Amino acid sequence: MLFLNLKKYKDMRRGIFAVCLALLVCACGSKKSADAEMDKFVKNLMRKMTLEEKIGQLNLLSVGFDVTGPILSQGVEDKIEKGLVGGVFNTYTPDAVKKLQDIAITKSRLKIPLLFGYDVIHGHKTIFPIPLGLSASWDLDLINRTAKAAASEASADGLHWTFSPMVDISRDPRWGRVSEGSGEDPYLGSEVAKAMVRGYEQDGMSNPEAVMSCVKHFALYGASEAGRDYNTTDMSRQRMYNEYFPPYKAAVDAGASTVMTSFNEVDGIPATANKWLIDNMLRKEWGFQGFVVTDYTGIMEMVQHGMGNKTKVSELAINAGIDMDMVSEYFIDELPALAPSGKVKIEAIDAACRRILEAKYKLGLFTDPYRGASAERAAKQIMSAEKLSLSKEAAIKSMVLLKNDRQVLPLNAAKKIAFIGPLVKNQRDLIGNWSGAGSWKQAVSLWDALETSYGKGKFLYAKGCNLVDDEALRNKLNPHGGSIIPDSKTPQQLISEAVQTAQQSDVVVAVLGESFGMSGEAASRSGIGLLDNQKELLKALKKTGKPIVLVLMNGRPLVLQWENDNLDAILETWFAGTQAGPAIAEALFGAANPSGKVTMTFPRNVGQIPVYYNHKNTGRPFDATQKYTTKYLDVPNEPLYPFGYGLSYTTFKYSNVALTGQILTSNGAIEASVSVSNTGQYAGEEVVQFYIRDLAGSVTRPVKELKGFEKIMLNPGESKDVKFTITPEMLAFYNADLQLVSEPGEFHVFIGGSSATANKAEFTLK
Ligand code: NOJ
Repeated sequence: MLFLNLKKYKDMRRGIFAVCLALLVCACGSKKSADAEMDKFVKNLMRKMTLEEKIGQLNLLSVGFDVTGPILSQGVEDKIEKGLVGGVFNTYTPDAVKKLQDIAITKSRLKIPLLFGYDVIHGHKTIFPIPLGLSASWDLDLINRTAKAAASEASADGLHWTFSPMVDISRDPRWGRVSEGSGEDPYLGSEVAKAMVRGYEQDGMSNPEAVMSCVKHFALYGASEAGRDYNTTDMSRQRMYNEYFPPYKAAVDAGASTVMTSFNEVDGIPATANKWLIDNMLRKEWGFQGFVVTDYTGIMEMVQHGMGNKTKVSELAINAGIDMDMVSEYFIDELPALAPSGKVKIEAIDAACRRILEAKYKLGLFTDPYRGASAERAAKQIMSAEKLSLSKEAAIKSMVLLKNDRQVLPLNAAKKIAFIGPLVKNQRDLIGNWSGAGSWKQAVSLWDALETSYGKGKFLYAKGCNLVDDEALRNKLNPHGGSIIPDSKTPQQLISEAVQTAQQSDVVVAVLGESFGMSGEAASRSGIGLLDNQKELLKALKKTGKPIVLVLMNGRPLVLQWENDNLDAILETWFAGTQAGPAIAEALFGAANPSGKVTMTFPRNVGQIPVYYNHKNTGRPFDATQKYTTKYLDVPNEPLYPFGYGLSYTTFKYSNVALTGQILTSNGAIEASVSVSNTGQYAGEEVVQFYIRDLAGSVTRPVKELKGFEKIMLNPGESKDVKFTITPEMLAFYNADLQLVSEPGEFHVFIGGSSATANKAEFTLK
């Protein structure tokens, strides 16, 4: 009987297997035939194209709303008509897109549709928290949903391509662009990169709500010296392969359609001319099949880098493997003559043109050049109730509670609360930098959210200070979208008003931080604390003796030593997006419980930078009893808030780490687990983090490396077991010969609530 059942079961399994195989073969077969059709179509088209028209496809021009460099693209419509443009960016809305697309498909000789790109970085019109904030949620599903929502809005608005995700690892918070990335960790960065690429690209470009992603900035842009934007980078291959490359590769593996080269040099050669980087690494090693675009005027800038004249840098770029020239227009000027001279092979131009035409084909532009974009679709998809609710969810989950003494948070609405600071009523800065299509007027301020929930006149308010008092800084920020107008009251008047208001209250909530333009591109800072005038306000408020909660809105880790030492609570909200106000109000009053964890180390002072958790041990690790060990005389080695740190209104207790074995064999696995309990009063989420240390290797290894994490929800009193599987592959790293190896030896496993955890177990890889 048992035998019969077993036989039936086996037959059934065989049947299912056969069906699956048939489906797979069928799917592969239909993919192959789709590829063959595309191939035929593109070949046919290219046969009809002149050399100039092929080079025209490589030309990407900026038309419309935003620019991030000199305004160079002139006579665009005429060039489109002549077939000298492959795509444009900075134009969106179905009407504006249609206007240019119609020229391409009715007036150009071969009627090849244009690609429309744009920097949809953290939402298109519904704005989500800045990427650094989103990464602090450690919620990959959430991040994926924000990318999907952004793609849905962007595609409805006529766009085909976003210049996102930015996956540059950075360990320097002086660099303003840390706001656009996922922080300092290669593993987390890779996971976020995958989630975003899949969110944008969905199941492929045949989905009208998907857009092509663009992995940027390849490579090492986040390692610019001294955190100064566009500056030189220089690093060992060891560090490149082990610490900086993984997120780019993860994004490529996840199916990213395009890659953007970075402004910086890699090994002495600008990324845009770096054949090793583009051709060897990206294409040959990683198998990237899509097209590579430069950054804004990337080819032109190589003249300043000292790589040669216009002709030379154009030759270098195409020969290195660049497909699309963003804004320089050097390809259309130079390649027509370079090709016959033999310095540039026609095959290189053909390959670039083919890759771009293939992208257009996959997008379905040869069938529907508008890809279903219409005013009706835009009205339905853009800023829908669902997307706004996602924006609020993302804002809540991105917040990080940095300090909360004596449980001053959550606030009790029955108390007298004074909201003080230039950001309490502010809307302009909430959507942060790189929110081009978003309208700050649609962002809900904290004050408006408070009035909506609690009625007018419930809370006290004072502005307290100008967001930026320093005139020189204001003059740098205002021409680029800033609208920082100094108050008609003097700084002294503003402070004394704030102090009087604070004196009437039981608790003060100071809402301070950066203006949106103080982080992002070309927004490096050498001092990353709160501005002096904001600090003066805090010092005056401190003298009132009232409990002070600091709510921060900013785009990078700040230096907060004084604030940490003197204030009662600190809530980091980043630039939280369209729904910032309601999200912050919910968190302050306990309707939501913060659960974010910082994904970039917060230093104690600028002198500690670069400071990151996965550093090497040195031959003289710190020992307080010894003089000649690695340290500063004036500040501890440890940062103020380490990677992975963040509090909750509740508390979590971790059991010791348990392992299913102490020996890991080359084809085996060990399970590491902990039990996590909610020991506080509130339901809350915890990011359980799993780190490994390789104690000895053929090259030096970091003191800890993140290898996994899980975000869990626990009610008060509830416990959960969290398990991570350790495999030899997980222990692999690039050795001195740049080979990926797992070396036998001793390892430590850490599981805890931040990178500083000491909760550890040990095992050996045989
Ligand atoms: C320059 C920036 O570096 C890049 O990230 C962006 O995508 C382009 N400009 C296009 O706006």
